[in-house]
Amino acid sequence: MKNILILLGGGRANGNTAQLAEAFQKGAAEAGHATELISLNKRNINGCTGCNACRYGKPCVQKDDFSSLIPKIKTADLIVFASPLYFWTISSKIKALIERFYCLAEKDSNPPLGRYETYPVRDCALLMTAADNFFWTFEQAVSYYQFTMINYIGFRDKGMLLAGGCGDTNGNPQITKTAHLQAAYDFGKTVYGTQTP
Ligand SMILES: Cc1cc2nc3c(=O)[nH]c(=O)nc-3n(C[C@H](O)[C@H](O)[C@H](O)COP(=O)(O)O)c2cc1C
Repeated sequence: MKNILILLGGGRANGNTAQLAEAFQKGAAEAGHATELISLNKRNINGCTGCNACRYGKPCVQKDDFSSLIPKIKTADLIVFASPLYFWTISSKIKALIERFYCLAEKDSNPPLGRYETYPVRDCALLMTAADNFFWTFEQAVSYYQFTMINYIGFRDKGMLLAGGCGDTNGNPQITKTAHLQAAYDFGKTVYGTQTP
């Protein structure tokens, strides 16, 4: 049994991204994992101000809702980032949250090339929705996720589900007309490979 934290970064309460995240959660819960889905829309999480107080042994000076997420991030086995594609990248809610990971860093006496500190190592996954569905639609978002979460912070990638073709020009959620919800359920159910859907 794993402890899975799903962070829903923007999108509508019953929109494509919420439905995708909930389908993943359902699959993971049915596989026996403990799951928690938190909508960042209901939390106030600012981006990092770059004050660097955390580099002098102090906790983050910003007293917003990130503080309540720190214990959840530290105890999760898997952190799932769920975001709509906004202007060809992740939502600002997810970006702001990831900036605040800066205060989770610890001193690394022997850092690898290009990294200056060490972070708690967790598994992570990416769930995204978009209106378009071109081969390049998610390119920036995937690049950011891979560069930041995997290459730099050092999380272990458990996979990505890039759900394109979820909207029309009026923005009406269309994900129920696609195969993405079943794929998200299957992903949640098999993310640790112990169950088959
Ligand atoms: C501000 C904004 C920017 C968007 N940018 C893009 C985009 O760059 N590419 C795209 O394919 N869809 C874009 N969309 C469409 C959404 O990504 C898509 O409808 C998504 O599934 C909405 O998620 P939700 O239903 O959870 O709100 C954008 C929507 C909004 C509101």
